[in-house]
Formats: sequence, C-alpha cells, structure tokens
Amino acid sequence: MRLQRTSLAKMTLLAGIMAITACGGGGSAAPPGAGGPPGASSGKSAPAGLITAADITLGDIDQGMVEKGRATYDVKCQACHSTGPNRVVGPGWKGVTERRKPEWIMNMMLNIDVMLETDPEAQKGLEECLVRMPNQGLSKEQGREVLEFMRTL
Ligand code: HEC
Repeated sequence: MRLQRTSLAKMTLLAGIMAITACGGGGSAAPPGAGGPPGASSGKSAPAGLITAADITLGDIDQGMVEKGRATYDVKCQACHSTGPNRVVGPGWKGVTERRKPEWIMNMMLNIDVMLETDPEAQKGLEECLVRMPNQGLSKEQGREVLEFMRTL
C-alpha cells in the first residue's frame, strides 16, 4: 500500500516535469493553422453557442478596456499565463493575437469545454501542456477586455 502510493507520487511528479518540458514554451510560436491568423476565415461554421467573427469588432486600442482586462488577468490568469513568450502552465500571451483569431481566443476564454471537445487546436494545446485550462467564469464583456489587453502584448 505504502509502496504503491510512493510510486503514484513519483508518476505525478514525472507528469509535472513532462508538462514543464513539453508545452511549446521557450518563445516558439504556435504553428499556423486553425486558430490563426487573425481575419482568416476557416469557412466552417462554429459549433452552436461559440462566438464567431461576426460577434467581435476590433477598432483602435481602447485603453480603458485594456486596463480592465489587465486587472482580470492579474486576478484570474496570471498564475498560468505570462504576458511574455514563455509558458507558465499555459502558453505565454505575447503575440497571441497574431497567432490566433480573435473569436478563437474569446472561445478559449469563455467556452473552454466546448473548445476542448471540438477544436483541434485547443486539443493540441491540451496535449502539449497536459493541463486542461479551467473555465474562469468570465463574462463576455470581461473576455473582450482581456482580448483588448492581449492586443497590446
Ligand atoms: C490553471 C491554469 C490556467 C489558468 C488559471 C488560465 N489558463 Fe488559459 N490556458 C491554460 C492551459 C494549460 C492552456 C493550454 C490548453 C489548451 O490549449 O487546451 C491555456 C490556454 C489558453 C489560451 C490559448 C492560448 C494559445 O496560445 O493557444 C487562452 C487565450 C487562454 N488560455 C486564456 C486564459 C485567460 C483569459 C485566463 C484568465 C481569465 C486563463 N487563460 C487562465 C491554463 C490556464
């Protein structure tokens, strides 16, 4: 019994180490494809309930929204995401709006469970990071503010 528990702990530790080394960190940008680049249309219709390109308007950077988005980041996202290129638990956010479409980012923030079920890029992220991004319970408005903050990174 005791022995078993020790080896389980070791395996958990090993999985943790693998997560640290495996998840596309080190500044390497996610490969182009589904999810990016911004503005590119995949031609496929999104599963019901997901945010689509038509739901998002990006104008000039709105500093008020950026500050609110930064505040949300500090409280709810910082533990797992850096604003640089480096991975913490999830990918770093530097340049994320260049790699990913805005609606894809919004859906990762607001509809992570549907994304992990249906979106190949979200599934790839999970495979690489070995951690499911937890739903952070953001409102659509909060998600939009975080997106605005991301545009400044
Ligand atoms: C417990 C850790 C954790 C927290 C907290 C967290 N995330 Fe994540 N996030 C992850 C992991 C792990 C991934 C990669 C998983 C995947 O792609 O399926 C990820 C992926 C993402 C992605 C996709 C990034 C990319 O380049 O592929 C976005 C966008 C994102 N998170 C936004 C947020 C926002 C916004 C918050 C705060 C409101 C947040 N996350 C909080 C762990 C976390």
